[in-house]
Amino acid sequence: MDGPILVIDRGGGRRVGEQLVDGLRRGILDGALRQGDPVPSTRALAAELGVSRSAVVAAYEQLAGEGYLEMRQGAPTRVAELDHAHAHGHERSGHHRGAARAHAPAVGVPPESVAPRIDLLPGRPSTARIDTRAWRAAWRQAAALDIPSNSPPPFGVRHLREEIADHLRHARGVACDADDVVVTAGTSEAVGLAASALTSIVGRAPVIAVEHPGYPSARRTLERRGARTAPVAVDADGLVVDALRRMPQVPDAVMVTPSHQYPLGGRLPVAARLELLEWAGSAGAVVIEDDYDSEFRHLGPPLPALASLDDGGGVVLVGSFSKVLTPWLRLGYLVLPQSQALREAIDDIRADEPCPVPGVVQDAAAALLASGAVRRHIAVTRRDYAHRRRLVLDALDGIPGAPLSGLDGGLHAVVRLPGHAASAAVVAGLAAEGIAVASLGDYSAVPGDEEPGIVFGYAGPGDTQLAEGLARIRAAILAVV
Ligand SMILES: Cc1ncc(COP(=O)(O)O)c(C=O)c1O
Repeated sequence: MDGPILVIDRGGGRRVGEQLVDGLRRGILDGALRQGDPVPSTRALAAELGVSRSAVVAAYEQLAGEGYLEMRQGAPTRVAELDHAHAHGHERSGHHRGAARAHAPAVGVPPESVAPRIDLLPGRPSTARIDTRAWRAAWRQAAALDIPSNSPPPFGVRHLREEIADHLRHARGVACDADDVVVTAGTSEAVGLAASALTSIVGRAPVIAVEHPGYPSARRTLERRGARTAPVAVDADGLVVDALRRMPQVPDAVMVTPSHQYPLGGRLPVAARLELLEWAGSAGAVVIEDDYDSEFRHLGPPLPALASLDDGGGVVLVGSFSKVLTPWLRLGYLVLPQSQALREAIDDIRADEPCPVPGVVQDAAAALLASGAVRRHIAVTRRDYAHRRRLVLDALDGIPGAPLSGLDGGLHAVVRLPGHAASAAVVAGLAAEGIAVASLGDYSAVPGDEEPGIVFGYAGPGDTQLAEGLARIRAAILAVV
């Protein structure tokens, strides 16, 4: 392009880094910097603008994280193609196919073969900022190891269990060590494992209380493993502990998302956490804590995991690297409580059904965690997601009749709508435009009690796609309120 890309204002008090990011972003959105074109080298732009090279590097990295730029090792940095996020034809995750299939009709979610143009289904993290150098180094390290002639150990590779325990001690204050950690193929497998273990302990189909609305895949997984699920209400703070006390049959376990209730977004206050643990202790119930989204708090500090508050030994913590890194890894964990019965039951199961996560994946993940790249990635993406969250608020907050919520943490948001017809029209209208969002009704655990609204993720696509998606969501909502 002719002329300077942007001009730095030195008198206005705005930070140089901020001006760089804003100016470049504006250039891309205005088309002054064309999609696919290389941007100037960091050295050249720094010299042209009279700023430090590190400020330009930081600006490019931020814009790469937001999806505006594409940075590849050994190649010039380029302006990203708009549909970059779909270049690999991301299939939608089973979980959200599942969500669409739940009790409500699968309104508006296009058939699997038709990839949405802008995929705002919840559950997709941004992978743009994964440190590819550290990622490749970890895989090289794993590939260089001797090739064992046995299956991975039943509870997972020792080194990985140590790294996960370390991660949980630091990030979540959970006092655990490698012996307490079971490596799983994501949360879904961890939940299934917990259900199978409970079945063998109670010697019948266990009754497991689940949040309503809640995570439909987890509910179905529990049921498929022979458990009977029983819905428990949630409110703006998450699971209603009193509702557990009022259940006609005391459940054997309760599955809860205390960090960021899925999908409504409540964060269970400490008092309610303690109450829940007290109830579990007196009812003899196991708490399955899905610590989903605990890494991404935007408002208010993260609260201690139930597993770190519990001294009764009845909390099974399940978690995964699906949001922290990518669901492509299919890697998660289950932290065993002190309860000997559960340990033995899981031990028995894994003796017959070996750890499903391939040994080489475990070795690579251990190396990646040990390199510090995961910790750094969480810190970087937390900032990116805070910026995305701001875009969501700017676009959708304050529409009368369509309250926006669920944004204190995590990577998705909820908009309540004034009726099922409105909700169906919004989901279907967006689908027709190639924009996939989920229907809030699909998360209901009580057939016939579906709440109208939409749930959408804001982490996966780049900013430009997100901005378009949000503008269209806004227009679709305004047409029905
Ligand atoms: C509530 C909840 N927990 C956990 C997960 C992660 O599941 P997995 O580890 O099986 O990918 C998801 C995925 O979207 C989720 O919505």
